[in-house]
Order: sequence, then structure tokens, then C-alpha cells
Amino acid sequence: MVKIAPSMLSCDFSRFGEELIRMEKAGADLIHLDVMDGCFVPNITFGAPIIKSLRPLSGITFDAHLMIIEPLRYIEDFALAGADIITFNIEARSPVSQTINAIKQAGRKASLCVKPGTPVELLFEHLDLLDMVLVMTVEPGFGGQSFIPETLTKIRLLREECTRRGLDLDIQADGGISRQTVGSAARAGANVFVAGSAIFNAPQAADAIDELRLIAQREMRQNPEESI
Ligand code: DX5
Ligand code: ZN
Repeated sequence: MVKIAPSMLSCDFSRFGEELIRMEKAGADLIHLDVMDGCFVPNITFGAPIIKSLRPLSGITFDAHLMIIEPLRYIEDFALAGADIITFNIEARSPVSQTINAIKQAGRKASLCVKPGTPVELLFEHLDLLDMVLVMTVEPGFGGQSFIPETLTKIRLLREECTRRGLDLDIQADGGISRQTVGSAARAGANVFVAGSAIFNAPQAADAIDELRLIAQREMRQNPEESI
């Protein structure tokens, strides 16, 4: 199933709550919350307290994308704040299996992320325990960057591996997703699409979300083996 996840990194932070509700009304399937610590990535955004303050405003699924150096230390905080999915990077310092277990023990969905330069095969040993995988299609840290086409191979390999093992995993593409790039990511096997600038810079967020969804659905239908 195709899901569109607006990245709140591109929203007006002075009106975070209103922007969240605007995205929900515009047809978002989940909300992507980019947490950056200025260490794992060269940018600082927000942490669990902000997510906690947003939680009462909406029941929509929150995906906390943790771009932080020690995710394991903060799993409980993000779970208590109300993140439904917790995504962390395989390149971070926390032990991967232990971090996945901590997320599961907190009753949340676990998602593992891979940067453009990291071999996707490193994710394979963890696939059985995951609910979602996030393939970064730009270098993490900033919104508004250009999609890196070489990351499509990763998405393809990942989808092939999931199909081979009979795993119905969500594969998320994050970074530079737009009407020009969403189709190739969908053809490669992604089914969840994060978009910041393409949605927030559009005159109407609902139109942008609909368009991304329609293009992705069309491209997935043309490659039925990779659609879920
Ligand atoms: C980048 C973030 C992305 C980013 C996407 O580090 O993980 O979620 O906000 O923004 P766009 O869609 O503008 O590339
Ligand atoms: Zn992100």
C-alpha cells in the first residue's frame, strides 16, 4: 500500500501544531518527524518534548526519524512522547538488535534506516524483526536536497530480499521525493514516501500529496511483483 509521509522539517516551526493538522487534513498517511542532534548529522532540530506536545493534537501515526548518535538512550523518551514508529540509523553507535528490542519492548514499531553510502546488505540480518526500512535517498541532515539516483539499487535489492523471504515490509524512501522522482522509487520497490519541500512548497498540500500517491500507485501497478 502506498503511503505518503510529509516531513515536518519543511513546515513553519512557529506554527508546528497547525501545520500538523493541515497535513492530516491534506491526506497524509503518517507524519515524519526528523530528530537531529547536530552530531550524527550537521543540523539540530527538535526532540521528544516537541513530539509530546504535538501528540494530543492528532491521532495520526507519528514516525520519529532519529538522526542521533545514540538512539538506544532515547527510545523510552520517544515512545513515551507518542511516536508510533521509531526509525534509527544502522550507522549510529547503538547496537542494532538491542535498539530494535527496546523499541519493541516499548510497544512501538521498529524501523531501520540506511544512509546512501552504506551497503544495504547490512540491513538483511535484521529484516525479520523490523516493521519498516528507510532508505535515505539524500545524505541526511537537510531538507530540499536532490534525490540521489544510485540509491534506487538499494531499494530494489531490499525489495527483492523481502519478496524472497516472504516479508511484507514497508520500504520508505526519504529525501528529494517529488513528482519527478517518486515514480522511480516506487518502481524500485518503495511504498512509503517522505516528502518535505515537495509538499510544503506546493500551493496546495492536498494536491501535492494526491499527485505523489497517484504517481506511486501507477508505477507500482506497472511492476506488480513489487507492490504490496
Ligand atoms: C533529511 C530528512 C528528510 C527531509 C526530506 O535528513 O531525513 O526527511 O526532511 O526533505 P525533502 O523532501 O525536502 O528532501
Ligand atoms: Zn527524514
